[in-house]
Amino acid sequence: MKKLSTALIFFLCVGCSQNVPQQGTTSSAPATTATAPAQEATTSKNPEMDRFINDLMAKMTLQEKIGQLNLLAVGFDVTGPVVSKNVDEKIRSGQVGGVFNTFTPVAARKLQEFAVNNTRLKIPLLFGYDVIHGHRTIFPIPLGLSTSWDMDMIERSARIAAEEASADGLNWVFSPMVDIARDPRWGRIAEGAGEDPYLGSQVAKAMVRGYQGDDLTQNNTVMACLKHFALYGAAEAGRDYGTTDMSLQRMYNEYLPPYKAAIEANVGSVMTSFNEINGIPATGNKWLLTELLRDKWGFDGFVVTDYTAINEMIPHGMGTEAEVGALALKAGTDMDMVGEVFLKHLDQAVKEGKVTEADINTACRRILEAKYKLGLFQDPYRYTDDNRATATIMKPEFIDASREIARKSMVLLKNKNNVLPLKQSGSIALIGPLAKSQRDMIGNWSAAGDWKKAVSVEEGIRNVVGNKVKINYAKGANIADDAQMLKRLNAHGGQLDLDTRTSEAMIQEAVKVARASDVIVAVVGESQGMSGEAASRADITLPGQQLELLKALKKTGKPLVLVLINGRPLALKWEEENADAILETWFAGTQAGNATADVLFGNYNPSGKLTTTFPQVVGQVPLFYNHKNTGRPYGGQLLDKYKSRYLDVENEPLYPFGYGLSYTTFNYSKPQISKTTISPTESLEVKVDVSNTGNYDGEEVVQLYIQDLVGSITRPVKELKGFRKIALKKGETQTVTFTLKPEDLKFYNYQLEHVLEPGDFKVYVGPNSRDVQEQSFKVQ
Ligand code: BGC
Repeated sequence: MKKLSTALIFFLCVGCSQNVPQQGTTSSAPATTATAPAQEATTSKNPEMDRFINDLMAKMTLQEKIGQLNLLAVGFDVTGPVVSKNVDEKIRSGQVGGVFNTFTPVAARKLQEFAVNNTRLKIPLLFGYDVIHGHRTIFPIPLGLSTSWDMDMIERSARIAAEEASADGLNWVFSPMVDIARDPRWGRIAEGAGEDPYLGSQVAKAMVRGYQGDDLTQNNTVMACLKHFALYGAAEAGRDYGTTDMSLQRMYNEYLPPYKAAIEANVGSVMTSFNEINGIPATGNKWLLTELLRDKWGFDGFVVTDYTAINEMIPHGMGTEAEVGALALKAGTDMDMVGEVFLKHLDQAVKEGKVTEADINTACRRILEAKYKLGLFQDPYRYTDDNRATATIMKPEFIDASREIARKSMVLLKNKNNVLPLKQSGSIALIGPLAKSQRDMIGNWSAAGDWKKAVSVEEGIRNVVGNKVKINYAKGANIADDAQMLKRLNAHGGQLDLDTRTSEAMIQEAVKVARASDVIVAVVGESQGMSGEAASRADITLPGQQLELLKALKKTGKPLVLVLINGRPLALKWEEENADAILETWFAGTQAGNATADVLFGNYNPSGKLTTTFPQVVGQVPLFYNHKNTGRPYGGQLLDKYKSRYLDVENEPLYPFGYGLSYTTFNYSKPQISKTTISPTESLEVKVDVSNTGNYDGEEVVQLYIQDLVGSITRPVKELKGFRKIALKKGETQTVTFTLKPEDLKFYNYQLEHVLEPGDFKVYVGPNSRDVQEQSFKVQ
């Protein structure tokens, strides 16, 4: 009888969207084939949602619940070694909770209709995607976004990405990536906000706000997914997917803050990382996923694995497929990305008592809650309106924002004798393998971005100066000469051609072009595929013959301006010593070329500051500003042998964290503090006057660092605790006031208690982490 009535309901509803279990109503339909009551503790703050999900889960079979834990890759891009198979059949039999890589309103609607109309319980699917730095309108890579130090702009980039993605059939984005990274060999340093936990936390919050807005049920917001939890950026030797082994003190103080900040900003989901942490892979790490994430930090969303990360626990040495599946679920993983381990093994695991149905209920509930929060039960098609897509995607104001954000993210590393900005007259030798590239402009992980819509540097220069400047072009060098390397890069969408001339011939041509021009603009760096996932480099100098090219160009005696396009800090010692100007542009997105030309010709005065330290040579890495002191710090005495230093290179970086120049100059007064002694509950005001002393209006990122001089555990030599990006007209002075709160002076001690220890502190203010002025104060 029960079965009959359920079947009848389905029959009547096939083809209509109302057959989705309706959010906001409590159905009285009785449970049919559910194997066990699903009334595990419902602790959410939303009784209406709890009732709805209790009711729905009471109707679900164990297999259907397990099905909700399954995430399949369906569509264009496949980022891992396994592609999901028999998708239709799996959806039909209730074995799929969500998909990723399917977008466009038409494709998403088709699949959603299929799921809703062909499954017993009509539960809508989640539609996820790697929207990392924009969806269709592409912004600078995340490392570039971070060098803008402009949180409003970063939030706006995520907002625009959400507008486009949600109009394009998606409701879930695999971003922000907040992994602290201090090793430029690691290709994925491109995807995060750099090396600093404080800045990383601000960026994490801005991005979550941008994606999720205030109300996830709005059809222009999407659920964010914090990744990669955790410590993915600390892989040994910068080799992707490598081991992380780290003290808890370093973890809590230096690596975990951005994840915690995103949780506090209410991020809806979390993705596990591929790496192990102190012996247990993140995806099977109960301490990480349950004790820390949920019990301590109060996260109440769902946890998805990274691509086949459960399966990968087998080579990690954690057991058979069935065992690692049980381990992941027990640890607190809710959703299995592509690996289908849950699907294959959890049923049996329940029978064998390796996991309980309650464990599965808990995970299933979290995924259903996400769908509820997104309003999918109310309307599974809220993200599939074709008209909205047409009106929204790549609209002019988004393109303008992309240009603005791109130029704000560029960092001027050197500008000898004010060779920049360039004159809008005369001739330019535009040289280099990246000068005409469109593909590279949108960088790696450029989601649904269409590189054919990207503006190359050459085109950007023409757009900005028209015929006022004569452009003489030569390629000068290949970005990589190694055929194997090119093959590998092109296998993943590199679009790189090998110019088959000898490198001597290419260089000679470039030299000739340079001699016939007033100034050289050499557009050099990495191809987009040289950073990002699985793109670690052991040598972080310019690849191929590009350095040889620059050396030959230098000999012409013409002013040499470098435009760098790359996804990581590079070792640029020769370049720093020999180029006249260096502009770091990263992979700047759809409007890269226009934004670069805006900066080169002075239509925009650069204001970006590095968020990662640039080493002199790769042997110095990991190299980061907020390091600890040693018992034998090197003070510059060359013959003092027993000091912490290298024989063959200085300890200093080439460019420190926070560094970046402007076309104007800024003067900083000595910082003033409101008190020299404060109590542990008091705040301290720090004031500094910043003056624009040069010839252009400009923006400056004023940075504040502290140092806790004595602690129960050793403390870093400097820690960023505040920054302000201000605009100053030529000749203008502004007073910047920072408030250091007790919270800013706290750290996690040996027992991992978050404490403020009374004692002596220093506060430093300046334009970067090196060139600061200081004051001292005491907490007592
Ligand atoms: C990456 C993730 C990404 C996922 C889905 C993985 O290989 O590590 O960052 O979100 O693929 O495409």
